[in-house]
Amino acid sequence: MIKNTLLPVAEFCQRRRDFIAQMPENSIALISAGKEVTRSNDTEYPFCQHKHFYYLTGFNEPDAMLVLINTDKLNAAQSILFSREKDALQEIWHGRRVGQAKAIDDYQVDDCFSLAEIDQQLLPLMSGKSAVLICQPELAEFQQQVLDWLNKVRKAARSGIKAPNSLIDCSDILDEMRLHKSPAELDIMRQVNVISGAAHQRAMQATKTGKFEYQIEAELLHEFAIHGARYPAYGSIVAGGDNANILHYTDNDDTLNDGDLLLIDAGGELAGYAADITRTFPVNGQFSEPQALIYQLVLDSQNLAINAIKPLQTFAQLNHIVCDFLTQGLYDLGVLQGDITELLAKKACKKYFIHGLGHWLGLDVHDVGDYHSNQQREQLRPFAAGMVMTIEPGIYIPLSDHSVDEKWRGIGVRIEDNILVTTNGFENLTINAAKSIADIEQMMSQ
Ligand code: GLY
Ligand code: MN
Ligand code: MN
Repeated sequence: MIKNTLLPVAEFCQRRRDFIAQMPENSIALISAGKEVTRSNDTEYPFCQHKHFYYLTGFNEPDAMLVLINTDKLNAAQSILFSREKDALQEIWHGRRVGQAKAIDDYQVDDCFSLAEIDQQLLPLMSGKSAVLICQPELAEFQQQVLDWLNKVRKAARSGIKAPNSLIDCSDILDEMRLHKSPAELDIMRQVNVISGAAHQRAMQATKTGKFEYQIEAELLHEFAIHGARYPAYGSIVAGGDNANILHYTDNDDTLNDGDLLLIDAGGELAGYAADITRTFPVNGQFSEPQALIYQLVLDSQNLAINAIKPLQTFAQLNHIVCDFLTQGLYDLGVLQGDITELLAKKACKKYFIHGLGHWLGLDVHDVGDYHSNQQREQLRPFAAGMVMTIEPGIYIPLSDHSVDEKWRGIGVRIEDNILVTTNGFENLTINAAKSIADIEQMMSQ
């Protein structure tokens, strides 16, 4: 076990071996750690490690780089870490550093050098390799750094020693590995779901007319943190009334009004892994009739999708099922009007269900992994046991929508659970956040 992770070090070692086995012969991969980000003047945001780097190391310091080498040379180092040096003064001010000797022991890399030694150590490792691999194409500065190293190696190349002649983006290898969760990862994802579900329960019980959205946000953060999920996996959305119709609303500074719904989309992060849960409930504890009708429609559509999850199922098919169901339901309620055959054919629910049905979930809240989307943006990737996704249908009817009866306006509902594909079907990881109308009303009456 490594500090800050709930995974054994052997799992990180195995990931590195699996990755190296998929690298082209005689290639070298360079993977950068995250950087600290300034919040104001000389204070930083809480550090969040780059998730690819974290996945391969479990090492939680900024300013580090992992080097992985595919070589058939006997006894050659294959995993090499570069990290910050021990520094007594810096550590008194800013916190402990692992340093090189302890990194070799704790993270079981073959070697570890200080950042000051990069040129001296890295350039000989790069020379003679056929290709340099990177897997963080979004890090422009790091890519430039890699090109600079590559140019240095090219300049220094002596006869007989070749410089790598290609720079390859290999992010698809890591994306694919991260899409398939191990039993140990799934244990963490179950835990962070339980913590986050408890936070939603706490939020429901704390909600009262006249409170501010940020006061409910504080309840969520408290519940995450006291259970070890120190930070939310993303900015919590606590959206009363019409604010729920702003999909990424994070102002969280309005008052909660009697008769409105409150939509909360929030999840904690535990050992790097995210939960992503949404619940919608009435501020005063009782759904009005129009709110209950829309809520039940969304809930039924979610159950329809979840119950259809199994290996070989696709997001495309689930979307199809949910779209038909919501279109028919909105037509039956009179929210959508016209010819039902035409409405179904043009997926008319999309006027009110304005985002995708779900996404992969893991170390990133919108996790990596190919959806095999075609030009029609259909997601045809067959599900397999070990994949985790969200299922999050929603209906959003803004106050400003004068095409519908007044009673529907200002209703925004999303319900989101985290689902694991199993060999026989699915496991819903979101087990403790009240979801049926009866359970929510009961929970809020306590
Ligand atoms: N919380 C972001 C999402 O549901 O996708
Ligand atoms: Mn989501
Ligand atoms: Mn969400």
